[in-house]
Amino acid sequence: MSKRKHDISRRQFLEGSGAVLVAATAGPKLSAQLSSSIQPETGGATREVPSTAIRLVVNGTEHRLEVEDRWTLAEVLRDHLGLTGTKIGCNRGECGACTVLLDGKPVYSCSNLAVWADGREVRTVEGLAHGDQLDPLQRAFVEHDGPQCGFCTSGQLMSARGLLTRNPHPTAREVRAAMTGNICRCSNYNRYVEAVLAASSTRDAKTSDRGAGRSTAPGRRGAKASARAGGA
Ligand code: FES
Ligand code: FES
Repeated sequence: MSKRKHDISRRQFLEGSGAVLVAATAGPKLSAQLSSSIQPETGGATREVPSTAIRLVVNGTEHRLEVEDRWTLAEVLRDHLGLTGTKIGCNRGECGACTVLLDGKPVYSCSNLAVWADGREVRTVEGLAHGDQLDPLQRAFVEHDGPQCGFCTSGQLMSARGLLTRNPHPTAREVRAAMTGNICRCSNYNRYVEAVLAASSTRDAKTSDRGAGRSTAPGRRGAKASARAGGA
């Protein structure tokens, strides 16, 4: 009898949990739908969310998009162009996982609005390799065991690419300075620095500049400043 009571109460618990789970999984969908151009206001009225037509050249390909003015560059790259190699870690300009090159300059894409990138060139980690031909940095990262969990790796690569394009033969100190804006929770910093130095010693260190051009590598403070200034 006491076992039956126990079973019923477990079933009831599971049914209750199921309802909560359904609500929890439906939540993101509901909020995604609400992020269209009409938003409810308190009191049942609706308001238009401002949106803008922009043109981006991403990894050499032109895209014309209608974006809500509040969308970040990271959101547009990941959710609208399917370029999920750009990672979102902190989503507030602290970790560097979302680093991309904007006109060749490393910026935090989570902290830049997509509208600020109108008419500009964006390069993401997907734009580093040419077909089967990896960028020298990607090869060096693999050879030097740079990626551990790998979550920070695309951001590390983009900061390093920005550096090598501007300065193909940096010192270890310059590499560290350029990558201070990229946090690695696996703490594999030394391997990343070794990999960048190894890539810099190859003949094609500067590599082809698909989507890259004028480049500076501002490091963490510089990248933050760029984010605040819209990457300008
Ligand atoms: S996700 Fe951390 S700086 Fe952008
Ligand atoms: S390799 Fe894991 S966070 Fe950097």
